[in-house]
Amino acid sequence: MCGIVGYIGNKNCIPILLNGLKRLEYRGYDSAGIAYIANGEAHFVKNKGKVSSLEDKLRNLNIVSNLGIGHTRWATHGVPNEINAHPHFNMAKNLFVIHNGIIENYQTIRTSLINLGYNFITETDSEVIPHLIDRFLNEGHSLCRSVQFALNEVQGTYGIAVIYLNEPDKIIAARKGSPLVVGIGENENFVASDVSAILAYTKQVVYLEDGEMAVVYKDHFTAKTIADVEIEKEVTEITMTLDEIDKGGYAHFMLKEIMEQPDSVQNSMRGRLLFDEGTAKLGGLETVADRLVDSKRIIISACGTSWHSALVGEYMLEQKARVPTEVEYASEFRYRNPIINKDDAIIFISQSGETADTLAALREAKQRGALAIGICNVVGSSIARESMSGIYTHAGPEIGVASTKAFSSQLIVLALITLMIARRKDMSLVDGKNIAVEMEKLPDKIRQILKLNDEIEFIANEFKSSRNFLYLGRGYNFPVALEGALKLKEISYIHAEGYPAAEMKHGPIALIDDNMPVVFIAPKDSTYDKIVSNIEEIRARRGRIIAIASENDDNIDKLVDYSIKIPDTIRMLMPILSVIPLQLLAYHIAVKKGLNVDQPRNLAKSVTVE
Ligand code: M6R
Repeated sequence: MCGIVGYIGNKNCIPILLNGLKRLEYRGYDSAGIAYIANGEAHFVKNKGKVSSLEDKLRNLNIVSNLGIGHTRWATHGVPNEINAHPHFNMAKNLFVIHNGIIENYQTIRTSLINLGYNFITETDSEVIPHLIDRFLNEGHSLCRSVQFALNEVQGTYGIAVIYLNEPDKIIAARKGSPLVVGIGENENFVASDVSAILAYTKQVVYLEDGEMAVVYKDHFTAKTIADVEIEKEVTEITMTLDEIDKGGYAHFMLKEIMEQPDSVQNSMRGRLLFDEGTAKLGGLETVADRLVDSKRIIISACGTSWHSALVGEYMLEQKARVPTEVEYASEFRYRNPIINKDDAIIFISQSGETADTLAALREAKQRGALAIGICNVVGSSIARESMSGIYTHAGPEIGVASTKAFSSQLIVLALITLMIARRKDMSLVDGKNIAVEMEKLPDKIRQILKLNDEIEFIANEFKSSRNFLYLGRGYNFPVALEGALKLKEISYIHAEGYPAAEMKHGPIALIDDNMPVVFIAPKDSTYDKIVSNIEEIRARRGRIIAIASENDDNIDKLVDYSIKIPDTIRMLMPILSVIPLQLLAYHIAVKKGLNVDQPRNLAKSVTVE
């Protein structure tokens, strides 16, 4: 949520900042800005809208500068406009700050600074930071100490980068609750909220932890705590490549990421299935495997799409491993004063590994003594690092705001955990082997489904003008209905609801008429006959029906308007297949409506504020 990039070195920082901001735009895209120091003067340029309009503005200015910071914003406090865009500055306009996060006590600080004569020009919470730093500078402190004193006064979350005309040899970066890395180059260094912003220039990074800061010079950096204690930081080598974060010839990241699923699913299970033993080997869980297997209860906590994966995981763990499992929204979990026992295991799922609510729930669980396990996609992310043990999904970078391949990979990891626990309990070797064999077949089956792209695009064209959608599924496919509805609403702005199919009769059926498309997830499993009855009920009320059905189901065609036929697999793995047509349907409807599928309005890829 919001992106930060900073550069200090011998090169011109402007193209580096712009390039970094474009890479970060998926984190927020309502306004952007930079601040830089050149020829003994400090300047800023800001713009409402995308980084491309900032770039247009900068093009005519011919700036050359060796020190600058840039920000792309996702508004929390104050409308998205040029004034509220970052960087924010002090009254002398010689100190600039970019900020991710939320300053919760900004009203109190603002009032006290106004009483001291400070003028505020924005509606943001962030603007208190440069004025606070300025107050300490005026008392004669160095920039570093002034930043530390200022941060001691703020409550909330921050990732900040600061530059100051009177100390033009450094960028100060500090973190609490919002990710920040220092990139190490040769006679140049970087600051970024996400390694993708600086990957073109360096693969050597240092992750800051909460409560830490870095003073970044062009040829070295020092790390300390906000309380001014010097610390040693480890340099990490990034393995991600630039190709992985490019569109690779696709019109959108979302389509690329949908199409990548045969490979991403393969990567999620690579080396983790033991076919002869009919089980899974998860290196990240080795040290806690006994405790996990012996857990009396598993809680899975997450947000958004990751929460939908958690719901599928609940079915898997209860049905196959016979462990009582509960799923909690991370945001509710932490404020509900949950009953957590020492023999509970809590799994936190997050693509980004930076979701504020999930991270806070993880910390709460650890504090209460539960086994806290993370399932993350982004390597080195906060949740990955703070979990007691964890498993990476290895889906590769997901840039499209609508999560697709991360979801299928999360389901693979949940299936692997289920298999591992179930086999150490009472699942037979035969059943274990069957699951492993079925998992191995998934990439080819996904390839087969992706060939239906044109057919799904045709269906999307038929329904692009619909105002509402209903998605229905039973059992394992109920969370898929939720996920299909979420995909559609977030990128096409069509109102969509997911329901367990049987719940339809308890209310939503009142909505059905010939304007209401209903998507059924109806593979031939043990709930098939019941789903067919639900389809009949919709038909009787002239609802328009799209069914995701099994490839050998000839019966369904006479009941529905459109069917999308997909290969079968065992029930616990079916969501990994049945979600793919729903991703494509949402994608094509949004494209046909002329919408920006990769950067839908009001959303950000990584929700680092509560
Ligand atoms: O990075 P996370 O998995 O923790 O993110 C959770 C949600 O913010 C995320 O899944 C969101 O719902 C996506 N936009 C869904 O497509």
